Amino acid sequence: MTAGAGTMPIEVVPTGFALGAEIRGIDVRSEPSPEAGEALREAWKQHLVLLFRGQTGLSDEELIAFTRVFGPLQEAPNSEVTAGFGSFSDVPPEVTIISNIEVDGRQIGALGAGEADWHTDMSFIKEPPAGSCLYAIEIPPAGGNTCFTNMHRALDTLDSETADAVKDARCVHDESLTSTGAQRQGVPAVTDVRETPGARHPVLRTHPDTGRKALFLGRRRNAWLVGFEIGESERLLDRLWTHAADESHVWEHRWREGDIVLWDNRAVMHRRDPFDPATRRLMHRTQVKGGRPY
Ligand code: OGA
Ligand code: MN
Repeated sequence: MTAGAGTMPIEVVPTGFALGAEIRGIDVRSEPSPEAGEALREAWKQHLVLLFRGQTGLSDEELIAFTRVFGPLQEAPNSEVTAGFGSFSDVPPEVTIISNIEVDGRQIGALGAGEADWHTDMSFIKEPPAGSCLYAIEIPPAGGNTCFTNMHRALDTLDSETADAVKDARCVHDESLTSTGAQRQGVPAVTDVRETPGARHPVLRTHPDTGRKALFLGRRRNAWLVGFEIGESERLLDRLWTHAADESHVWEHRWREGDIVLWDNRAVMHRRDPFDPATRRLMHRTQVKGGRPY
């Protein structure tokens, strides 16, 4: 809240789609009052993705302090750093750079200009981040929109035959490839999904803050429903992914410079459109620490 607006309630404006709300009436640079902090966390629980516009000129320290309103921060694991996340040494360890910009022939951040497939951030680790917070510093004139899908809703609307088939299943979340399909350094390529490296998580998870159940799919490439015959695993995964990505669960965000978008990795997947690599896109990202999915 701005200093003079300490008593002004924040305004929560739902997107009108299956998830997401814009928060108005807050300057993310100032520490919110306890009531405003609580209102922000409540809005996050309810809407799963929060958008804050017009926050240009934010420093990394301010972005980190703002993220802390939603919980302690989580640094990116080494395999993310070597894949380009956070490889730019000028930022604090809590911040990862998402960008296609090159300086002296070297990418300053991760994900380039290509499409990033539907995924959940860092789902291949045992305790993936509860949330991710992406701050738009430079936005290309076209492309690079980010879509979010509501995984509570995906589960609630799943056909009962598929839901029954996976209700006790665990899935392996591939660590070998990034969301743009790039091979991570030092991780061998997967030739048999039964040997995919990465954490194994329940396909149906419970949100620790709300008790609501959600589908938890993480990433499609090299996924395997542990213990299932491969053909059956592929059939069920294809069914789950087609359903989860259905546009009835999705909200698409068109970025403006100064936008902050915070999403809940426990109940949301996201994807990003490609954009013209000759244009520039620069985002800084922080992560809220999460626990082991159950
Ligand atoms: C991410 C991500 C999407 C985007 O930072 O984890 O998927 O819009 N980014 O850059
Ligand atoms: Mn991501």
